[in-house]
Amino acid sequence: MRTDTGQIFRLEDYRPSEYLIPQVDLAFRLDAHETEVTATLTVERRSGVEGARPLVLDGDGLSLDYLLIDGERADGSSYEAAHDSLTISKLPSAERFCLTIGTRLNPAANKALMGLYLSNGVFCTQCEAEGFRRITYFLDRPDILSVYRVRIEARRSEAPLLLSNGNPVESGRLEDGWHYAVWHDPFPKPSYLFALVAGDLGALHDSFTTASGRKVSLGIYVEHGKEARATYAMDALKRSMRWDEEHFGREYDLNVFNIVAVSDFNMGAMENKGLNIFNDKYVLAEPDTATDHDYANIEAIIAHEYFHNWTGNRITCRDWFQLCLKEGLTVYRDHEFSADQRSRPVKRIAEVKTLKALQFPEDQGPLAHPVRPRRYREINNFYTPTVYEKGAEVVRMIRTILGAEPFRAAMDLYFDRHDGQAVTIEDFLACFEEVSNHDLSQFALWYHQAGTPAVTVHPHYDADTSEYSLEMEQFIPSTPSETHKRPMHIPLAFGLLGPDGQDIEYEFAEGADVEGGVIHLRAKRHLVRFRGVGARPVLSINRGFSAPINLSLTMRQEDHMFLARHDQDLFSRWQSLNWLFTDELIRAAASIRAGSEPEFSAAILDYPAAIASDTSLEAAYRALALTLPAEADIAREMGSNVDPDAIAAARKSLRLAIANAASKTFMCEYSDLADHLPFSADAESAGKRALRNVLLEYLAAESSEPSLALSQFESAKNMTDRAAALSVLAHQFPDSAAAQKALKHFEKRYRDNPLVLDKWFLIQSTIPGEKTVDLVRELMEHPAFSITNPNRVRSLIGAFASSNQTGFHRADGEGYRFTAQTVLNVEEHNPQVAARLAIAFRSWRSLEKGRQEHAREALSMIARKRGLSRDLNDIIERTLA
Ligand code: TRP
Ligand code: ZN
Repeated sequence: MRTDTGQIFRLEDYRPSEYLIPQVDLAFRLDAHETEVTATLTVERRSGVEGARPLVLDGDGLSLDYLLIDGERADGSSYEAAHDSLTISKLPSAERFCLTIGTRLNPAANKALMGLYLSNGVFCTQCEAEGFRRITYFLDRPDILSVYRVRIEARRSEAPLLLSNGNPVESGRLEDGWHYAVWHDPFPKPSYLFALVAGDLGALHDSFTTASGRKVSLGIYVEHGKEARATYAMDALKRSMRWDEEHFGREYDLNVFNIVAVSDFNMGAMENKGLNIFNDKYVLAEPDTATDHDYANIEAIIAHEYFHNWTGNRITCRDWFQLCLKEGLTVYRDHEFSADQRSRPVKRIAEVKTLKALQFPEDQGPLAHPVRPRRYREINNFYTPTVYEKGAEVVRMIRTILGAEPFRAAMDLYFDRHDGQAVTIEDFLACFEEVSNHDLSQFALWYHQAGTPAVTVHPHYDADTSEYSLEMEQFIPSTPSETHKRPMHIPLAFGLLGPDGQDIEYEFAEGADVEGGVIHLRAKRHLVRFRGVGARPVLSINRGFSAPINLSLTMRQEDHMFLARHDQDLFSRWQSLNWLFTDELIRAAASIRAGSEPEFSAAILDYPAAIASDTSLEAAYRALALTLPAEADIAREMGSNVDPDAIAAARKSLRLAIANAASKTFMCEYSDLADHLPFSADAESAGKRALRNVLLEYLAAESSEPSLALSQFESAKNMTDRAAALSVLAHQFPDSAAAQKALKHFEKRYRDNPLVLDKWFLIQSTIPGEKTVDLVRELMEHPAFSITNPNRVRSLIGAFASSNQTGFHRADGEGYRFTAQTVLNVEEHNPQVAARLAIAFRSWRSLEKGRQEHAREALSMIARKRGLSRDLNDIIERTLA
């Protein structure tokens, strides 16, 4: 394990490397415990660099077997080999020379899942961000682009399948039951995109013909017997390939594209050139085992990794500070893809919910950092919602500011100009500026300034002058080591609703830029005025969530309700309704803390029945509209002195009040939605299931007994309905015989399917209340649980810590102590996953005093441990700072 040295990497310290490695020849002789790696590097001095400075290659936990320089064994005085570096001081004087480096690895012992490791007997690699240096000594930085040729040797019985990046060149048999394959990737790439897979896997094959007529062989490799479960992923892949041609003019560029699913994986998936490696959770799906949510994730992640082929691989990052250059942009692209495949407003609502649930708390807490950070200690800790999700929002804003056509023209320019290069955010922005003649220098602050901007808007209508004005102000909160903030360019899409709910025409008088339905805030304060407005309008602002901000709008509750009912922008209708629910819930939580009964306004209780039965709205939309803000959403909106128990009680009582008010309608809809058709994963069918399952939650609460949920559980014909019913049983009636029976049944039925058991772990670890800590402890002893498998850890421990508000935040601190101890246990094997778990503590300062103290103690307990990994130490120190 790499312990923390305290070293900090800074953007301003970037220097181009003095050496380049245009070509890499790798040879692997694979063995579970002793794999031999021979790396032959063609090294070149960068022109203009003179002098005999040593070449320093990166390593991580390596030991050097041997070193040849231009084919000759190097003598001990010309180099120094350490675990984390290989320094060669005596180099040939030629422009170009050759190094041959021998290392030996133990893949079976690699539980950090970075570098070369074994997952279920399959050899696989993970090199982003700095895993390649665990395989061989190298200039392991993304601006070193090389053409790779890879030879893999393995025992045929152990690994009949041998894959690497690029196109296959040759293969054949060797002595003693061994065989080999050679792969060549003609596209120069950084080391983080290198990949190798060798094992005994089943395959699903297909093909795709690109727009220009190139035929590409597609393969998805999974455990034997699970091939059929990859058909949805294959279909999603082909749709992604077509979509990127149609919407960005991007074609695939190799003869083969392979995807491998593995069960031990630190993240979602990895875009290695021509050989994507996936967490099997994001490949395998069939109706009996996967929920609609799983299907949507598979589609999105398959697309995401595929889209990286252009945004990430053909054009990559100069250094890791530029991570959002590939991630933010690629998330934006996969969002657009999913919006086109499914329903745009529904997709947008889901995106904003995720952004607010994951990125807003990051931006408001101790781990806040700019979309393009300026410093890091451990790059793995910067694969964050800020880099990914906020990074995608920034690209979306560029499109809003420029308009669709200039945006596309600038993307074309970017692809054309920077193909084959490792570039920066400045290079990216320059393309948009050039094409559109917009000055994006103020806009660029979205990349450089952390913190969610707060925008306040006070509308005022003057009937005498028929003037409507908006007093607007922006404020960027302080974030760690950034207290002085500059005003940003905030594009706010808006409309003014007349009494009939239609957008009215207005005549813009003065204030901020107003163009094409968008107000462009640039100064700290603006007074925006409209003339000739005949009647008091209702303002709909930040439509489509055109900017990722916290909006506070002084407006009457009736006006919010009017928007919730009539806004032409469906996203904004949801936003208004969500605002109303949140407002009720915050007030109810305060009453509960003060010892009184919460009261809810009649308008709020009446509306849900109307939504549920409004067939002019898609079912998926109705499901989202009827979903109350989660406990964590309410906590985030409160911001300080948070009492999770009061919030949970408030939410429960609003749910019950709505259920009581709407039970008849809900029951009718619930029955009507029962579906008798064969399962289909399409968006419309999924939407109906989503709506029905939201209604089930209300109906179960209203009846206060488990029979409806149990009967849905027993008759369910797909995993979506089964898991939803199980979660209602376990969460609302945890002590009932029905819940116990259903949990047992589910466990038995799926005991051989770890991905499905993850749902079982997750449902139980998120049972509200103080008893769940003990249940989680008990489940850690379950034979299907494994502390070294990231999916198991995330389902049981991760879900508990990040989604169980009344369990994790137990008032006596037991949830924190348990989580902290488990973080340390996980760290022994896998520092990256441990650091991710520890992020659950990030909002600890917003809690009420008692819990704050307990959380601080748990964090300090971790901090006191000697020899913490760089990953975990970085998170803990920043969280406590
Ligand atoms: N680049 C990957 C993606 O977002 C994610 C990734 C980064 C990753 N680091 C990783 C995946 C480490 C697995 C392990 O598409
Ligand atoms: Zn990505």
